[in-house]
Amino acid sequence: MKAAQYSQLPIHHQLPSSSSMHQTSNPLKLLSCFLLFGIGLVLGTMLSSYTKSSPFNTLQSLQFLPPLSPPPPPPRLLSPPPPPPRLLSPPPPPPLLSPPPPPPLLVFSLSSPLLPLPPSPTIILYPGQSPARIGLKGYLEPSNVMHDMTEEELLWRASMVPRIPTHPYKRIPKVAFMFLARGELPFAPLWEKFFRGHEGLFTIYLHLSPEYTGDVAKESVFYGRRIPSRPVEWGEVNMIEAERRLLANALLDFSNQRFVLLSEACVPLWNFETIYSYLINSTQTFVSLYDDPSSTGRGRYSKSMLPQIHIDQWRKSSQWFEVDRELAVAIVSDDFYFPVFQKFCHAQWGCYADEHYLPTMINIKYGAKNSNRSVTFVNWSLGGPHPARYYRKQVTPELLRWMREGSTCMYNGRPTNICFLFARKFLPNALIRFELFAPKVMGFG
Ligand SMILES: *[C@@H]1O[C@H](CO)[C@@H](O)[C@H](O)[C@H]1NC(C)=O
Ligand SMILES: *[C@@H]1O[C@H](CO)[C@@H](O)[C@H](O)[C@H]1NC(C)=O
Ligand SMILES: *[C@@H]1O[C@H](CO)[C@@H](O)[C@H](O)[C@H]1NC(C)=O
Repeated sequence: MKAAQYSQLPIHHQLPSSSSMHQTSNPLKLLSCFLLFGIGLVLGTMLSSYTKSSPFNTLQSLQFLPPLSPPPPPPRLLSPPPPPPRLLSPPPPPPLLSPPPPPPLLVFSLSSPLLPLPPSPTIILYPGQSPARIGLKGYLEPSNVMHDMTEEELLWRASMVPRIPTHPYKRIPKVAFMFLARGELPFAPLWEKFFRGHEGLFTIYLHLSPEYTGDVAKESVFYGRRIPSRPVEWGEVNMIEAERRLLANALLDFSNQRFVLLSEACVPLWNFETIYSYLINSTQTFVSLYDDPSSTGRGRYSKSMLPQIHIDQWRKSSQWFEVDRELAVAIVSDDFYFPVFQKFCHAQWGCYADEHYLPTMINIKYGAKNSNRSVTFVNWSLGGPHPARYYRKQVTPELLRWMREGSTCMYNGRPTNICFLFARKFLPNALIRFELFAPKVMGFG
């Protein structure tokens, strides 16, 4: 019924523009016009009695009647009859011409594939008729970090960069905390206290082993933050793939400005405010990077990596990086250096991609903006491939103070004692000591 009403609208629009009823400029024709009009009137009333339900069709046919029939003029009609007001005055505006149909009607008829679109674009602009504003929301921050994009689709989407430098929305920069872990985070209770009260300034991403089935409480800051993950082997190139996956997922949120990679054995050394402003305000990225001429440095380079990578460009680092958005995009979209590592850097040949890919790539292309130091404290004093692990009793206020301010480094061009924001590695049983010292030494909890 509503559809029928609507399909008549185009016919109506033709009525006012038609000129066939106003051709009587010649006075000689005036009389015959009146006669014809009278006949038309008779015919019209007859017709309208047949088609009462559709008065517009009648009007339409009336327009074409005069030229069709030149009948003998009946004398009765010589004197001009009083014009029937119903037909001489412009036809009463049918209800369809004036105020537009109610919005729901339009919405439904628009969605019907059988109906032609309404002829006038103004129809969708009537007040109260436009659909709810969609805006940029879903584009700027995915509501759910779980998605079904393939790896290829994810990296491609994450590599997109706006070319307009100002934001058409209020952008509060966030720090992305990316946890690369096997399963449960033993220091989660400490992190919960660290994050509490700072919602809107951070995002969390969890890359966990696909077999891990554990979950966290709904109230936890880690709830619903698990990203689609794949198996990771120590020292293998799939470790870098996991890091790229974390970066790509974090890049989908356009408010993420800094990206820090953490493990389950990491803890924060400062409160959230300090770490947030340190990273957001930094003019540099924090990826450790050095040239190691020994067998555990340049010794892992292979000539097969030519011509993309020369041995002079080969660098080593600890894996736990902190980068800005520009570098994060460069890492997820690197299709020049990364394939070389995928092909020629494998643990079985003594090449550990997680220690060489990022520093080598950054050294070649992004060295100028890198601080060449890590913000994650690690104790390498034991030598060998694994750093020292602190057990519960080793965690003392003195150790924490040493990690926090026992070194000197440069920050935004000035020397500082605050070089480390995070530390590793700690055995899970050290948690109780951190919870004990955090309020006094680290200013939270
Ligand atoms: C960055 O530093 C400026 C002063 O140097 C300070 O006013 C501002 O609050 C800092 N930003 C953050 C996010 O801490
Ligand atoms: C870091 O190393 C790069 C070369 O990879 C160099 O260009 C840059 O000046 C270094 N930055 C600092 C702060 O030493
Ligand atoms: C580094 O680890 C070694 C071995 O566990 C330990 O003796 C040393 O005190 C640690 N250094 C620091 C600064 O914690």
